Amino acid sequence: MLHFAARFGATLTCQPCNMQELTPTDGADVLEPAHIAFDAGGVPYATRFGDIYHSHDGGPAQARHVFIAGNGLPRRWGGLDAFTIVETGFGLGLNFLCTWAEFLADPLRPRHLHYVAVEKHPASPSDLERAHAPWHALRVLAAELRQRWPPLLRGFHRVEFADARIVLTLLFGDATHMLAELDAVADALYLDGFAPEKNPAMWSEPLFRELARLSKPGTTAATWSVAGQVRTRLAAAGFAVERRPGFGRKRAMLTAVRPGMASRRAHGSQSRHAVVIGAGLAGCWTAFSLARRGWTVEVIERNDEPAREGSGNSIGVLRPALNLADTANARLARSAFLRTADVLVNEDALQGAWMQTGVLHVATTAARAQRMAHILDAHRFAHDYVCWLEAGAAARRAGHAVAGPGWWIERGGWVRPRELCRALLHAAAPRVRVAYASTAGKLAASSSGWQVLDAQGDVIAQAPVVIAANAGGAPRLGLAGLPRLMSVRGQVSELPASVRRSLACVVCGDGYVVALPHGGHYIGATFEPDSTALDLRPADHAANLARANRMLPGFAAGADPATLGGRAALRIATADRLPVCGASRPAAIDADHAGGVYVATGLGARGLIWGALCAEILLSRLEAEPNAIERSLIAALDPAREEPSPRLRRPP
Ligand SMILES: Cc1cc2nc3c(=O)[nH]c(=O)nc-3n(C[C@H](O)[C@H](O)[C@H](O)COP(=O)(O)OP(=O)(O)OC[C@H]3O[C@@H](n4cnc5c(N)ncnc54)[C@H](O)[C@@H]3O)c2cc1C
Ligand SMILES: C[S@@+](CC[C@H](N)C(=O)[O-])C[C@H]1O[C@@H](n2cnc3c(N)ncnc32)[C@H](O)[C@@H]1O
Repeated sequence: MLHFAARFGATLTCQPCNMQELTPTDGADVLEPAHIAFDAGGVPYATRFGDIYHSHDGGPAQARHVFIAGNGLPRRWGGLDAFTIVETGFGLGLNFLCTWAEFLADPLRPRHLHYVAVEKHPASPSDLERAHAPWHALRVLAAELRQRWPPLLRGFHRVEFADARIVLTLLFGDATHMLAELDAVADALYLDGFAPEKNPAMWSEPLFRELARLSKPGTTAATWSVAGQVRTRLAAAGFAVERRPGFGRKRAMLTAVRPGMASRRAHGSQSRHAVVIGAGLAGCWTAFSLARRGWTVEVIERNDEPAREGSGNSIGVLRPALNLADTANARLARSAFLRTADVLVNEDALQGAWMQTGVLHVATTAARAQRMAHILDAHRFAHDYVCWLEAGAAARRAGHAVAGPGWWIERGGWVRPRELCRALLHAAAPRVRVAYASTAGKLAASSSGWQVLDAQGDVIAQAPVVIAANAGGAPRLGLAGLPRLMSVRGQVSELPASVRRSLACVVCGDGYVVALPHGGHYIGATFEPDSTALDLRPADHAANLARANRMLPGFAAGADPATLGGRAALRIATADRLPVCGASRPAAIDADHAGGVYVATGLGARGLIWGALCAEILLSRLEAEPNAIERSLIAALDPAREEPSPRLRRPP
């Protein structure tokens, strides 16, 4: 797989949208990139702040002296299960790279290192490359960081390194605002937000209130600044502050510690065993993610192989949803899409189950083109996320005539859900056992956690943690308070291979058309709420052919609905079109005594993006680790959220 940035410059021309007569929205929440210059000594500085990114006496040496040694590392993390660092000001990632190198060199390193850093003005990949160039010893790690660098989009971005032992969560946005969205318990704080007199926002009282919330007895902090205001704010946040010799020409620096006994969780101190019910996308991603983090998982599946139901299509589309208002749904779908694409690109075991062809979202009418252009104008999304293609460029991209201009989503593509489910289970195999032809009936509490009983009341599995990932079957397990789950029938049509038809990328806009890897095309899909029928209907094939022709004029010419193959299946959806992901409990168990039961369902029409994100959210919660996405967004997925009226529209 070519890295996206490399492909971007060579092959794609994004064009400005020229349809600005609609009024601009106030939905724009645009991130401004860093403006970086290099002074005569080659040290990077931020023109916006008039301050340097690191000491003139040496960046890596400063990082090791001030932040790593200043927080008592690596000694303090030795033998721990997990260690969490929170940094204000990720900048060029120098502190992160030095900490990563220290982690790799330390035989007593913790099992997992969480590095959470906030950054309001992310650097461009080219600025990062230039700034990283002098740090020869960090060359390999720096290149890996740049390769995984997220697009310039506000929000949480999570990437893993070193076989997922280092989890980097980048919070792109203003520090105080973004830290308020973080749930974490920091072991160490790196305070690195430019000089307080040049950038008071990074040393403000509200920001220190957030840092106080994120710390505990034993949390340490370090900074090169000795400003009185920094000392006062650290003290007000409950830290005992100490002045120590500074780095290079700086006489002093500050370290601080929250008094009290630090709690330590050593390697292997927690039982990591779970039962997952259901082997579709939700269940397989959950099993994979837990196994990758050292859990053993028993999967209970009523069919005799994975992905026979909602996840059983031959192929589907991986793409985000873009809306005019940047609602929780839009932000969640963006996070889910980016997370899934990043994991898919970087997990060797999952190659073959997907292809990053790019997705062209075509406007099928002039009105839609206006609206789509307006959405891009309003958000000024990073071009490596989505950009505009005029009709001619869109047609060249698709390799076929198209109905109009559209969005080009470079990181999107197709996924083969069945193959993906198999690959996820296979990759997790040593730690995951699947019991096929086994149907969960209900859950019962036991002394060691939870038992899963079959219809006869026999115990089929037990563990401290149970995750119901069984789509529409979740309510039948007797779980309390789930949002109403609705069945939406969908039929896909399979066009046989023909020399007259080819397509270079996934095309969507009114459903989707995807080339199958072994010939032919898939057209999806009909959308019929409140239907559970699974028969194949020629009328639905005809509707799909018409859909393909609306996006790609003439594409389905000559195809006969009466003779087409295809598949009908059910999407399990909620009224607010968001998945259901979080803690639940059997209705019969008192809330005070529950715990350990979770649910991941309601993936609706976008299960290919939601599965990986739901799994990561549950894992972070089970491990009591920093959240992968904003906590307000996680709350929007909670099973106990408030429900809107149950009216389902076809997704755009
Ligand atoms: C026609 C169609 C086209 C689609 N196209 C796309 C697309 O292009 N892009 C996209 O992102 N999404 C698409 N989707 C949506 C996506 O396929 C679903 O959201 C996703 O597959 C749902 O996964 P799941 O794991 O929640 O459910 P499922 O795949 O249905 O998995 C649930 C599993 O639980 C098992 N189970 C249920 N009850 C029990 C029990 N009591 N005991 C044991 N096992 C049990 C079932 O057998 C099943 O294997 C499409 C869906 C359809 C129907
Ligand atoms: C000194 S640099 C950080 C250097 C970095 N720690 C490293 O190791 O490369 C300070 C950083 O804080 C960021 N910053 C400034 N104001 C901010 C704010 N209000 N919220 C978040 N980040 C901010 C700047 O963009 C800059 O990248």
